[in-house]
Amino acid sequence: MSIWLTIDNLGLTEGGTRIIDAVSLSLSAQRTLVLGPNGAGKSTLLRLIHGLLHPSSGALRWSQPLSQAMVFQRPVMLRTTALANVVYGLKLKGCTAHECDRRARQALAHVGLETLAKRPARLLSGGEQQRVALARAWALEPELLILDEPTASLDPASSREVERIINEIAAGGARILMTTHNLGQARRVAEEIVFIDRGRIAEQTPVAEFFKLPRTPAAQDFLQEEMP
Ligand SMILES: Nc1ncnc2c1ncn2[C@@H]1O[C@H](COP(=O)(O)OP(=O)(O)OP(=O)(O)O)[C@@H](O)[C@H]1O
Ligand SMILES: [Mg+2]
Repeated sequence: MSIWLTIDNLGLTEGGTRIIDAVSLSLSAQRTLVLGPNGAGKSTLLRLIHGLLHPSSGALRWSQPLSQAMVFQRPVMLRTTALANVVYGLKLKGCTAHECDRRARQALAHVGLETLAKRPARLLSGGEQQRVALARAWALEPELLILDEPTASLDPASSREVERIINEIAAGGARILMTTHNLGQARRVAEEIVFIDRGRIAEQTPVAEFFKLPRTPAAQDFLQEEMP
């Protein structure tokens, strides 16, 4: 893929603290994983890219406009059925009631939840809610799907299921930008790793190379601690 996003000297300061510090980055991989220790600024960077936060300095330059959807660590479910949760996002984008319903059901079927469509979303398990969140994002047919630790609270089986769905969405052509603390998952999903440390980009490395021999001491320490 050619470069789809150029991040130019991006900075975010909150209450005198520099959370994102002069981040410059060109993204061209289809599947990019952002790794780094707690508090490194991963979620903040994803929120800046999704437009939920405004940078204090610098800019994002999109090579072409990309429709986006974001999935959060803890999915926010509306107090209604799983199906209505998916329909809601679609309605905001504009489709007829019939078409929204059809697309929402299709998305729920994709994540294996068709039988739970009429259940109250908030009563579903964490893994099921995360799959509803993925269906909600998938139904929008985003060109860029941003995922912030989408499997953080899930058991291994649910995590693998969510991973499978992410890979399926990627296979449909969407770009994936994701964070995780699960390094096995990073290996399975990523093409490229962006390693961030204290608000700065430490390195941007193809996945195989990163796990074999990260270039920076910060990433080497991180891998050593996570995979002793
Ligand atoms: N609105 C804010 N005001 C002040 N500090 C903030 C704000 N938002 C985030 N921070 C701080 O910025 C740093 C980066 O936070 P962020 O949530 O981006 O980290 P992260 O890399 O996603 O961490 P984790 O792995 O724990 O999810 C943290 O130290 C956090 O406390
Ligand atoms: Mg985070």
